[in-house]
Amino acid sequence: MGNISVKLFGKNLHNPVFNASGTLGYGVEIEPLWGVETLGAYVTKGLSIKPHHGNLTPRVWEERYGMINSIGLQNVGVERFFDTYFPFFKKKKTPVIVNFFGFTEDEYIACAGKIKPDRLIIALEMNLSCPNIKAGGISFGKEPRMVFDIVKKVKAVTKIPLFAKLTPEVRNIVDIATAACEAGADGLTLINTMPAAGFDAKKRNIPLKGGLSGPVLKPIALRAVHECSKVVPVPVVGVGGIMDAMDAVSFFMAGARAIQIGTATFIDPYAIPKIIKGVSNYLDANGYKKIDDIIGIAHEK
Ligand SMILES: Cc1cc2nc3c(=O)[nH]c(=O)nc-3n(C[C@H](O)[C@H](O)[C@H](O)COP(=O)(O)O)c2cc1C
Repeated sequence: MGNISVKLFGKNLHNPVFNASGTLGYGVEIEPLWGVETLGAYVTKGLSIKPHHGNLTPRVWEERYGMINSIGLQNVGVERFFDTYFPFFKKKKTPVIVNFFGFTEDEYIACAGKIKPDRLIIALEMNLSCPNIKAGGISFGKEPRMVFDIVKKVKAVTKIPLFAKLTPEVRNIVDIATAACEAGADGLTLINTMPAAGFDAKKRNIPLKGGLSGPVLKPIALRAVHECSKVVPVPVVGVGGIMDAMDAVSFFMAGARAIQIGTATFIDPYAIPKIIKGVSNYLDANGYKKIDDIIGIAHEK
């Protein structure tokens, strides 16, 4: 079997495939089908300092090549996650990446500061797509200066490695990635969803506006990974529209050190285990001994 183990922040992960934040509940929900220990690491639903109720329904809308979600960052809050769910990951010895957000700088800082280092927490993942309510609702991730400031402040309150998860809704994602790294981000997650609207032809209305994910996002995510991983000195995690093993391989070749799977799980709940196996098979079939042998090889061409 091709060796797909990968090292991230000094820790060995048995594979480089994670779920995307918000698409695998709190991890326990998938148990009847397969266990979270299958993952290289589990990424939490976005957590905030206080529990958050999210948006009214409808919250999801199917499109031809993707889906739009407007969950509105509903979550149980950081404290309850650690009291109720974290022991499950401890029991399973599954590494965890804690995705978190805030609606103000203070909320980001408070949330990150609340998360105590633990052997199983390999990183925090900061969702920068969140609206800054003190800046008229513009998302934290849209301007290099805002990204630099918030990443620097969060880095000051945590010793846990920090991924900055970027929004694609920017003029130049390389500028944003560079700002995050200059502020001390230890890694980048590329990318979050793209703002979009659904249209209901029967009702002749727009039932929801939200984030577009799935296959339609893949080329945008792939470009972001390729361009950013060439210039930043930190690991890049690729996410956006990865539906099968060949999509996954293309992200590794574009420079991703690990990948995340979101919407694919909604179509096929076994997508993640299938992709893990498929990547390993690809290495075998093409004479590669380890995943490191393909990471970034598309940079050279
Ligand atoms: C239902 C749903 C909920 C999501 N919740 C979050 C979240 O809480 N935090 C976050 O950073 N991204 C969230 N995302 C974005 C995903 O983590 C991922 O970046 C995006 O969906 C692109 O990947 P995909 O095309 O494989 O789904 C969510 C996506 C979906 C579909």
